[in-house]
Amino acid sequence: MDKFIINGPTPLRGSIAISGSKNAALPLMAAAILGDSPTTIRLVPKLKDIYTFNNVIRVTGTSVQFDEEYNSLTIDSGNLGFAEAPYELVRKMRASFYMLGALMGKTGEAKVSLPGGCAWGPRPVDLHLKGLEAMGADIRLEKGYVMGSFPGESVPGGVYELNPSSVGATVNLILAAVRRAESFTIKNAAKEPDVVLLCDTLAKMGANIKGAGTDTITIQRVESLKGIETSNDPDRIETGTYMIAAAMHPESSLTLTGCKPKDLGSFPDQLRKTGAVVTINNDTIQVDAPESIKPVSIETQIYPGFPTDLQAQWATLMTQAEGTSKISDNIYFDRFSYVPELKRLGANLSVKENCVTVSGPSKLSGTSVMSTDLRASVSLVMAGMIADGETEVLRVYHLDRGYEDLEDKLNQSGSSITREDGD
Ligand code: EPZ
Repeated sequence: MDKFIINGPTPLRGSIAISGSKNAALPLMAAAILGDSPTTIRLVPKLKDIYTFNNVIRVTGTSVQFDEEYNSLTIDSGNLGFAEAPYELVRKMRASFYMLGALMGKTGEAKVSLPGGCAWGPRPVDLHLKGLEAMGADIRLEKGYVMGSFPGESVPGGVYELNPSSVGATVNLILAAVRRAESFTIKNAAKEPDVVLLCDTLAKMGANIKGAGTDTITIQRVESLKGIETSNDPDRIETGTYMIAAAMHPESSLTLTGCKPKDLGSFPDQLRKTGAVVTINNDTIQVDAPESIKPVSIETQIYPGFPTDLQAQWATLMTQAEGTSKISDNIYFDRFSYVPELKRLGANLSVKENCVTVSGPSKLSGTSVMSTDLRASVSLVMAGMIADGETEVLRVYHLDRGYEDLEDKLNQSGSSITREDGD
């Protein structure tokens, strides 16, 4: 398993191009299965999770061609003959569960493994299943698999309210409904940009969807969907990650290109409260670090609130702030596995229930730390970039799931990160 050797402290100066969004691409790939002709998606990042999902989709007989040179993915479900998603693949990546909605939408039935555990949790799928049943589907659980089917070509549909709002459940219910439910309304639907892009893309394929980006989405059934050429969005979480990284060291000045600033919701203003100067110009964002970082407490919320996927990264920044801050995660109540690792580097933070209290500034000094999940890993890399001396971040395969060319992008902007064969 690879590890990173990071020497710090180093400022970030230069320009980083933002890659396609992992969390927006995965629903688009599932949606492509619903088309009666091939769909090509541009700006697909070369990430482990994308390759994993390619293999999950291929199990059904659907062809998936990934042109890595152009980050372009073509999906053709013309030969789909096996409406299943097996445990050995689904357990590698939770979003494989989108195959339930896609296969039920396409073929009227599906056998999909329940997702495995996660580095934090619980991460249930009860809303996905109850929503499908509310739509008119038969749902059975058998030996760790969900057996879903529609009793006929179409079902009446109905109304289902998500509580809490869920990105994944919203995606799965949309995928199942567009070709199967006469009329289906999702209340308290997710408003994340990933969901808006999915709805816009399905509409281009011929779907009838109203309310994308609001908390009420209504789908009217269409007989068929056609394949299209379309583009993925830039990754808003990668963008936010590098914006936070650029605020950590007083000499940093970083330009991010190929961004979609409006997808960042309230985040840029939160970052400005630390004293960082954030300049947005079309698809370019420049972050100039403050002389000293003001402590800013945050609470994660559904979009357009502060994203839970930036919570760990924010904690790393707050270890350098002049004072105390509180970071509460209202989406996942135990997404703090990075805390003991940051403490090994010399940070002063403590967790109580779903809130971490950070007292800064702390002088961080390099040592070995362990990645536990995707966003916790990147918070450790960021800490290594401002720690004195050498930091070893183990099990960086977590990073390879969600950050395309991370060390190259950071090294081109002044970091000193070397990838080595790990333990
Ligand atoms: C998506 O996960 C993202 N993953 C996550 O990003 C992100 O953290 C999360 O949304 C929240 O924004 C992808 O898009 C592939 P949810 P998802 O269903 O859909 C509860 C990353 O780092 N819930 O919106 O699984 C759940 O427990 C990943 O890129 C139920 O109770 O998240 C949580 O508290 C990590 N029952 C809340 O809803 C359900 O059936 C939000 O989860 C489903 C969810």
